[in-house]
Amino acid sequence: MTACIVGWAHSKFGKLDGETSESLVVKAATDAMAHAGIEPRAVDVIYVGNMNGGFVKQEFHSSLPLQAHPDLRFKPSTRVENACATGSAAIHMGLNTLAAKKARFVLVVGVEKMTELNSAQAGDVLIKASYVAEEANIDAGFAGIFGKITSTYFQRYGDKSDALARIAVKAHRNGAKNPLAHFQKEFDYGFCRNPSDKNPFVAGPLKRTDCSPVTDGAAAVILADSDTALGMKHAIAFRAAEHVNDFLPMSKRDIIQFDGPTLAWQRALASARLDLLDLGFVETHDCFTAAELIEYEAMGLTARGQGERAILEGWVERDGKLPVNVSGGLKAKGHPVGATGVSMHVMSAMQLSGTAGVMQLANPKLAGVFNMGGAAVANYVSILEPLK
Ligand code: COA
Repeated sequence: MTACIVGWAHSKFGKLDGETSESLVVKAATDAMAHAGIEPRAVDVIYVGNMNGGFVKQEFHSSLPLQAHPDLRFKPSTRVENACATGSAAIHMGLNTLAAKKARFVLVVGVEKMTELNSAQAGDVLIKASYVAEEANIDAGFAGIFGKITSTYFQRYGDKSDALARIAVKAHRNGAKNPLAHFQKEFDYGFCRNPSDKNPFVAGPLKRTDCSPVTDGAAAVILADSDTALGMKHAIAFRAAEHVNDFLPMSKRDIIQFDGPTLAWQRALASARLDLLDLGFVETHDCFTAAELIEYEAMGLTARGQGERAILEGWVERDGKLPVNVSGGLKAKGHPVGATGVSMHVMSAMQLSGTAGVMQLANPKLAGVFNMGGAAVANYVSILEPLK
């Protein structure tokens, strides 16, 4: 790979009353260019990650970043959509543009404004990221899809509710350290483990604390080729970037194998010539705690059916052998779907540049990012390291 992240920006995630996807895009784009130390006229190409599908009436987003500065007018800009992996898809479009030498600087903005809808309405939008012909009638929106996946996992490997509760506790403990997170408070094990009025079942074995929330937010990066990046203040290089799509219908796959994520991880690690445990940390797509559990297996941290070991034995805690989601993950940081993939890269860049504040790990050298669209359908793995 020959591309780098040379600047970034990240809004607060949460229920952002008074913000629109337009205001979020403009602020993130402005802040990312300033962070990179480039003038707007230096941007050659723009990608906007936005899933939408009915979250807001404004469907057409590609020209919204142009409102950040008059010098962005007439730049080529394209909206990218790949369900919950939309943000990484937009970054990949930027990487491809750089590889084709069609740009020197690419601006990528991911955004979603979800909270104009209530949770049930948001679920109706999110279920469009399933295979509608077979799966759209499942209850509880996308939580219903993962409720089904979780039930299948429990049938094959036993009830793992303890592990799921521990994953939620870890996410909220880490999120409490992230000033940009949707939730910045710790939830104890008893609360996450036991159903209650405040923590009801949402779908199958999944309770509210097993779900990522409905969130507003934006994140942006400036990408540049590595030669250009050498002269920049910030330069976080892509050592690998892999994209694997699987069949959309769950009926065509063994859904708890996560074959697409597994292949994406294998290809990324092979391309980077690394073992998983060479990484200093991983940001992974915990849209539901059960997704994180199965992703431990997909990334190769544990054997199939043994993902619980990674959480119950502390491997994925901040001080474990592979910290996972020190940002709080989607579970606590929030999951504004079009922004999430970009956010994961920003959180990783902050760690690798030593600018993660109270979240900072001790001198990590390599990061893994896994972002997933649909139920293990669109799968993106990036491996990042400081260029210099
Ligand atoms: N985790 C923890 N707490 C949550 C939460 C979550 N995911 N979602 C909401 N809460 C809290 C709220 O902060 C609020 O707390 P308060 O009473 O202290 O103020 C309380 O729960 C009620 O919030 P509300 O928004 O009314 O909850 P809800 O039951 O309508 O929604 C979910 C909860 C889990 C159904 C909703 O967050 C959801 O649909 N999540 C999944 C989103 C999704 O599918 N994303 C795509 C994944 S691929």
